[in-house]
Amino acid sequence: MSEKLYVFDTTLRDGEQVPGCQLNTIEKIEVARALEALGVDVIEAGFPVSSPGDFNSVREISKAVSLPVICALTRAVPKDIDAAADALALAKRKRIHTGIGVSHSHIYHKLNSNPDEIVERAVAAVKYARKYVEDVEFYAEDAGRADNEYLARVVQAVIAAGATVVNIPDTTGYCLPLEYGRKIKYLMEHVDNIHRAILSTHCHNDLGMATANTLEGVINGARQVEVTINGIGERAGNTALEEVVMALRCHRHLGIDTSVDSKLLTSTSRMVASMMNMPVQANKAIVGRNAFAHSSGIHQDGVLKNRESYEIIDPVDVGLDESVIALTARSGRAALSHRLELLGYKLEQNELDEVYARFLDLADKKKDIRDDDLLYLVGDAGGRASKRIRLKYLQILTGTLIPTATVIVRIGESERTATHTGNGPVDAAVKAIKTLINEQVLITEFLIQAMNKGSDDVGRVHVQVKCGQLLVHGFSADTDVVKAAVGAFVDALNLVNATEKKE
Ligand code: KIV
Ligand code: ZN
Repeated sequence: MSEKLYVFDTTLRDGEQVPGCQLNTIEKIEVARALEALGVDVIEAGFPVSSPGDFNSVREISKAVSLPVICALTRAVPKDIDAAADALALAKRKRIHTGIGVSHSHIYHKLNSNPDEIVERAVAAVKYARKYVEDVEFYAEDAGRADNEYLARVVQAVIAAGATVVNIPDTTGYCLPLEYGRKIKYLMEHVDNIHRAILSTHCHNDLGMATANTLEGVINGARQVEVTINGIGERAGNTALEEVVMALRCHRHLGIDTSVDSKLLTSTSRMVASMMNMPVQANKAIVGRNAFAHSSGIHQDGVLKNRESYEIIDPVDVGLDESVIALTARSGRAALSHRLELLGYKLEQNELDEVYARFLDLADKKKDIRDDDLLYLVGDAGGRASKRIRLKYLQILTGTLIPTATVIVRIGESERTATHTGNGPVDAAVKAIKTLINEQVLITEFLIQAMNKGSDDVGRVHVQVKCGQLLVHGFSADTDVVKAAVGAFVDALNLVNATEKKE
């Protein structure tokens, strides 16, 4: 039986501080619900005194989410703590997170204070917060650069004042893993009342060591980790939740585990990336597009024979269907045939030879061959799935006129016609199709790419469509980009099983 490691998610507080990542209250509730489903223990929902918007978000999340503890950040001042307590009033389980700087730089330059006064202010803040809630976390800001002996004095004092969790932030991402681990060990060994509280890690990634530092902290006694989805956060970000969770799952001998449902990691990552306009880098550990993609012929062959040849995590465990055999000019027939089978095409040898020849031709021109390229190669650029919904007719009037589209769409057994205007031909056609279906669908991403070069090129279109909680990707390719765009939208409608609106 593993020892429990508490996951404190700060995507909505430290993560959301990033310029351009701001969410409105409705979006924050959606993320908070996803974090609850993921199984995090604590959600840091915001910094209530900082703005009415943050206050309101903490309040609404407190109402909407019931399993995790909802936490609100404060400085070590009464008016912040009052605001946090007020915003958390309706939370089932609540925590106030208060704190102050403890490094030389913070004490003397930022706070214009001295070490004794900082201890007094820390203790006063914790006592004040305890008047409102039982669960008070104290953060010793810039602990990463603080003197360990002084840090131990602060930690001991705040625990005596009633702190239940003490956060040791490497605020500037300065520490080396060994150093951060030693800091936690020092506190575990030199703070007399340490058994009355949990030590928490909070590592920033300025030197790319946030996950390593967090794990060293855990190995040396911390039992809470402060993390964000995709590692988003100020500057180079915070520790990535998915990395810590999977590192511990891969190294079970450490005997420490979280309650996170790893199968939801990919979907949660994609949701946060898209809502916060923060795309995940392709080679990001665990959730990057290439994290389970194999491109060299040798690796592909090895993975097709036995996944473990080149993988330490089963992609299914993080919510993916399977590893991706990335098709390039170096791929053989086996990889091509495997991918085509997954797309539902079982080709005879002579057909495969023919498609393979065309594939090599395309692969010489394009670095990366995707599923939609393959569908194009096998002569099915219109999309996958059962094609219950099909575009039968598309006519666009555009140019100096208001773009107007007329579509005939087959939905199941019936054929329906619609006409609509839009701000462009694609918009007009999409709006026309939307009038024919029951579901509220929203295009959340739209990408047109040329396959090769030249005006006679094939345009490839990817759309991401949201229908309720369901997020699907449709694609299509055609020399007519409007047709390709509409085809991709129809492909996505098939994936959400859209139904016909009755006249
Ligand atoms: O990095 C940091 O020190 C913080 C604290 C406010 C917890 O985010
Ligand atoms: Zn931080």
